[in-house]
Parts: sequence; structure tokens; C-alpha cells
Amino acid sequence: MIASSFPAGARSRLDFWQVASGAILALFICVHLILEGSVVISPKLTDGIAWLLEATCVAQIAAPCLVLLILFHFWIAARKMPFRAGELGVFVRHSRCLREADTWLWLVQVFTAVVILAGAFFHVYTVMTDLPITVAGSAKRLHSGWMAFHAVFLPCVILHTGIGIYRLAVKFGICSKAARNRVRATIWIVMGCYLTLGTLALSRVWFLE
Ligand code: HEM
Repeated sequence: MIASSFPAGARSRLDFWQVASGAILALFICVHLILEGSVVISPKLTDGIAWLLEATCVAQIAAPCLVLLILFHFWIAARKMPFRAGELGVFVRHSRCLREADTWLWLVQVFTAVVILAGAFFHVYTVMTDLPITVAGSAKRLHSGWMAFHAVFLPCVILHTGIGIYRLAVKFGICSKAARNRVRATIWIVMGCYLTLGTLALSRVWFLE
């Protein structure tokens, strides 16, 4: 972690907002991937859900709010990220010495955060400027090049969310030191389930065309 120039009071306030915005985003992703996964059961069901979210303006309101929330979450987290020349090298060297899995997980958080920051904007913009949201529309998008995007974006989003929830549990004492291995294993299993659901959903949409 990079030394902070923020005073302690401001640091804990910023930590709170980072956790709060991260928790809202994690909740959104869990719901989004399940709603998107409904296509595995029935594309008509997914179309119905998309219609409802658009008719009630939930999608239209959520889209800009989510982009702003991602920017806010990243802006707060960026103060700890190893951006400056040499910082990343120092961080990797320290991680090697510490031999602590959690330190490496934080590096995964930094890498996936950058992918999500760039990817989420393009994803939301592309979907929201091509309304109405339909499975047929998604299939067209995937066949026009977006499948490669989702093959990278989906694992990054799942890794970032899963590791984020784990780190949050450790930071706030919800997960004790003795329980860490068990909690980590549980989170890997949940991430595996989400990755399977997302992959099945993308495959179902892909083979619709
Ligand atoms: C209101 C805003 C959003 C809408 C309307 C939306 C809609 C969609 C739609 C229709 C798809 C299917 C693929 C496609 O059509 O391109 C999709 C997939 C996906 N979206 Fe979003 N999305 C939104 C925000 C986000 C955000 C903020 C993230 C992550 C930071 C995200 C992550 C994903 C992922 C990972 C997939 C792949 C899902 C899977 O494999 O089942 N989405 N989204």
C-alpha cells in the first residue's frame, strides 16, 4: 500500500465511502449477473425482465448512476494504487518477501479495477444507446466483436467483486484470522458459480443467432 498524504480523519471517511460504494456495486453485480443468467432458462424471461426495467425507467436511471459510482469508487481507491514509476516494482518485491496471499489478491484488485473502469463505460454506453434491451440485440452485439470483450470483462468483474467482498470482511473483522482460509475457499466457490453462470449465459446468447 502506498503511504497516504491524507490526514487520519479524512482517511477513515474515505475508507468508509470506498466500502459503501464498493458494497453497492457488488450488490448490483450479483443481481445483474443473475438477471442476465435468466437467459439460460429462457430468453423470453430475460426479454421480459429487460422490458420491465426499461418501462419503469430503472435501467435509464441506473446506467448513469452506476458509471458515476464506479468513477467515485475508483477515485477513492486510486490514492492507494501503485501508479508512479517504480511503485509497482517495489510492491511486487515486497509481496514476494511477505509470501502472503492477501497481498497478491490486492494486486489483482488493482489490475481488474483498471479493466473495469474502462470496460464498464463502453459496455453501459453501447447497451444504453441501442435500446430496447433484448436478447436478440445482445446476440448481434456479441457476434459483432463484443464476445471477446466479455471474455475478459466477465472474469475481471467477478474477481474484483469476490476479492473485494473478502477484503471488506477481513478489514471489518467479520472474517477472523482463523476463518480466513475457509472464507477464501467459500468465496472462490461462489466466484466459480458466477463465472459458470455468466459463461453459460453468454454461450446461450451466442448460439441464439
Ligand atoms: C444499467 C446499466 C447496465 C445495463 C443496462 C447492462 C446490460 C447488460 C446486457 C444487456 C448484457 C448482455 C450482453 C450485451 O448485451 O452486451 C450485459 C452483460 C454484462 N454486464 Fe452489464 N449492464 C449494465 C451495467 C453493467 C456494469 C456497471 C457492469 C460491471 C461493472 C456490468 C457487467 C456486465 C457483465 C460482466 C456482463 C456479462 C454477463 C454474463 O456473462 O452473463 N454491466 N449487461
